[in-house]
Amino acid sequence: MTVPVLTIDGPSGAGKGTVSRAVARRLDWHYLDSGSIYRALALAVLQEGVALDDVASICRIGGVMKLEFECGEELTVMLDGRDVSRQLTTEITGNAASIIAAYPEVRQVLLKKQKAFQQLPGLVADGRDMGSVVFPDARFKVYLTAGSAERALRRYKQLIEKGNDANLIQITREIEERDLRDSRRAVAPLTIPQDALYIDSSDLDIEQVIARVMNLVC
Ligand code: C5P
Repeated sequence: MTVPVLTIDGPSGAGKGTVSRAVARRLDWHYLDSGSIYRALALAVLQEGVALDDVASICRIGGVMKLEFECGEELTVMLDGRDVSRQLTTEITGNAASIIAAYPEVRQVLLKKQKAFQQLPGLVADGRDMGSVVFPDARFKVYLTAGSAERALRRYKQLIEKGNDANLIQITREIEERDLRDSRRAVAPLTIPQDALYIDSSDLDIEQVIARVMNLVC
């Protein structure tokens, strides 16, 4: 039996995480936050003092790192036995993740880890290339986006709520830079899968987005 997969792709700050977790909970499906895999590798690389262009070392670290996920209201990520959930949300980690994610070799190392999440009764997979590369045969695909100013504001509020420092102008600039890097890279760029339901969440609240996604699946 093919395990059903719902992919939710889109740029940073579109609300993919919140929507994906809520839908996974309602369907009682597994949840893959692929961004946190890239972020965890970026954190491990930064902590080991490895340069962000040392692709061989980054792949080596990616091959041996041990990741565990616990999905409650928030996602808990354990990297080599340590809870790194908070460190993963910083802009430094996010930007480093976007830099290392552009290397095809790095993406290849992380591909298997992501595919392993496809387990019964189903999977909600959130990222940039879930519907295009990792799960191209997914039964349900969504592309979730919002204007960059709106996404920057949401990200700013999220960081402040979590007790991190944040600067809205800087976040807007970084989000726009990251969008460009993620959509221009040669391998698995951020694209809208042809068969995806397109949702612009700029003027929708989270419940409205969740309802549209649930409608697609049920
Ligand atoms: O989604 P999130 O902001 O946590 O992702 C961090 C970075 O990881 C993104 O900017 C992107 O470059 C990379 N990423 C990716 N492919 C994915 C998920 C994330 O390239 N499927």
